[in-house]
Amino acid sequence: MTVRWSMRPSTYDRMMRGSNQRRYYGDSGYFNFGYWGAGAKSQREASDALVDRMVARIADKTGRILDVACGLGASTKRLTQTYATKLDFPHDHFDAVICIEGACHFDTRDEFLKEAHRVLKPGGSLAMADMLFPITILSDFGQVPRANLLPSIAEYGTRLAAAGFVSIEVTDATDDCLGGFCANLARWPGAERRAGRMSLSRSFAAAVICKLLAAFFGRSCKTYLLVSARKPD
Ligand SMILES: C[S@@+](CC[C@H](N)C(=O)[O-])C[C@H]1O[C@@H](n2cnc3c(N)ncnc32)[C@H](O)[C@@H]1O
Repeated sequence: MTVRWSMRPSTYDRMMRGSNQRRYYGDSGYFNFGYWGAGAKSQREASDALVDRMVARIADKTGRILDVACGLGASTKRLTQTYATKLDFPHDHFDAVICIEGACHFDTRDEFLKEAHRVLKPGGSLAMADMLFPITILSDFGQVPRANLLPSIAEYGTRLAAAGFVSIEVTDATDDCLGGFCANLARWPGAERRAGRMSLSRSFAAAVICKLLAAFFGRSCKTYLLVSARKPD
């Protein structure tokens, strides 16, 4: 792909490999907010459910799929339950492209959308989990280019259309994804302690950190979006 990656995925790589993060994600390899609207009982289940929501947005599940910004590969592993795995990137090649919580970081999202459109076959599906941010704090930390700070769902749809997509659906899933994640993160240290997997003193410290993180994510990520679109036939 010819998208220019000028941000810092290495920051993510470090975060994703941290022992506390791996523990929170149950060593699954996921690093996303997950989907909590269908009764997930753990972060791992919620992350599996989010991938399943992406797959549900893809009409034809029989061809090649590209998982962009796959993190430690857990989403790709889950996808192998539906698809086989092979990587190359010519024009009109993939039947589906998915991207979970990656597009907001790309420099720029619009360039990524153009590339996704290029590598998709005519009629191919794009499925994404993405976010709108109300403030520039994440941008200032260098994680979200300012060009990606869109004001509304309507504008998000306009950018997809400008990249050439049709059958555009952009759904507000803030409560089911971000809300569920923040609630789970805040209660996780207590649950770990009650299950005997975390000492009392450590769970107190973790509770403070997790509550602060939950508040940060809740404030800095305004709207969580489930997105699907199609390249015209
Ligand atoms: C929130 S994680 C999501 C990971 C994975 N999709 C999942 O669901 O577990 C964001 C992903 O975006 C990648 N990323 C962040 N900034 C990036 C950039 N500028 N260029 C390429 N990838 C980036 C990170 O390396 C990470 O894999």
